[in-house]
Amino acid sequence: MNKKIIIANWKMLPETWAEAEQILDSLNEYLGEQGERAESSIVICPPFVFIEEVGKVFGTTSLGQYLSLGAQDIATSDSVVVTGEIPGPMLQGLGVRYVIIGHSERRWKIGESDEIVNRKLKTALENGFIPVVCIGEKERDENFKKFLEDQLCGTFDGLSAGDLQKCLIAYEPVWAISTNPGAKPDTPESALESVKTIEKVLSSTFQVPRPTFLYGGSVNSSNARQFLEEFDGVLVGSASVKKEEFIKILISLK
Ligand code: PGA
Repeated sequence: MNKKIIIANWKMLPETWAEAEQILDSLNEYLGEQGERAESSIVICPPFVFIEEVGKVFGTTSLGQYLSLGAQDIATSDSVVVTGEIPGPMLQGLGVRYVIIGHSERRWKIGESDEIVNRKLKTALENGFIPVVCIGEKERDENFKKFLEDQLCGTFDGLSAGDLQKCLIAYEPVWAISTNPGAKPDTPESALESVKTIEKVLSSTFQVPRPTFLYGGSVNSSNARQFLEEFDGVLVGSASVKKEEFIKILISLK
């Protein structure tokens, strides 16, 4: 399998630093055994309060050779002061390289608009981060392609083809995200249909040739391989904080 990208979105877990350490310990053990064969790019996006500690573990163990640090969000601007937000330079100072932008839980549970997502995306790019931009329809109904088109136009408004090529695009249908009631994973075939729509919009509106596509939404050890065969990588939520399960996902890269 070509080099793939695995992004672990820990969301609001684990509850304690001790559990986070256990996840990192098992990754250290597994990836250490793989050595040079650890061919993928693996990014860990912990909750903000653990980023610094996770970075220290990367710096003091061999994990730093295999893993990169990501943040789950970023402030809309480095200069407009907003209580509670985390600006880009602070994340840089912690060694963050990737930032998740426009996650559907933020879009739909706290009302983050396309316009806010667009500002965050621009801030992430200005800071030199690799944005992991989440795109996905709320319902797979007869209007979902139009929905994707509008979301893409709002999210990427004002960006150049060069900017867009720096982004990883995570197709995450909202109904497939494990934190939503009744969630079930998409199939690779139907997710690829949506990707075709996304590709069409990006090439016609933004003149971008094929960007890097990840799939996200209830990825686990039994379906990861199928998605990894069709996509450049996966964005893994709930399964990424279950240490055995996440390692099984990494094993499916072989
Ligand atoms: P899930 O989440 O794997 O728990 O469905 C993916 C995501 O929210 O990015």
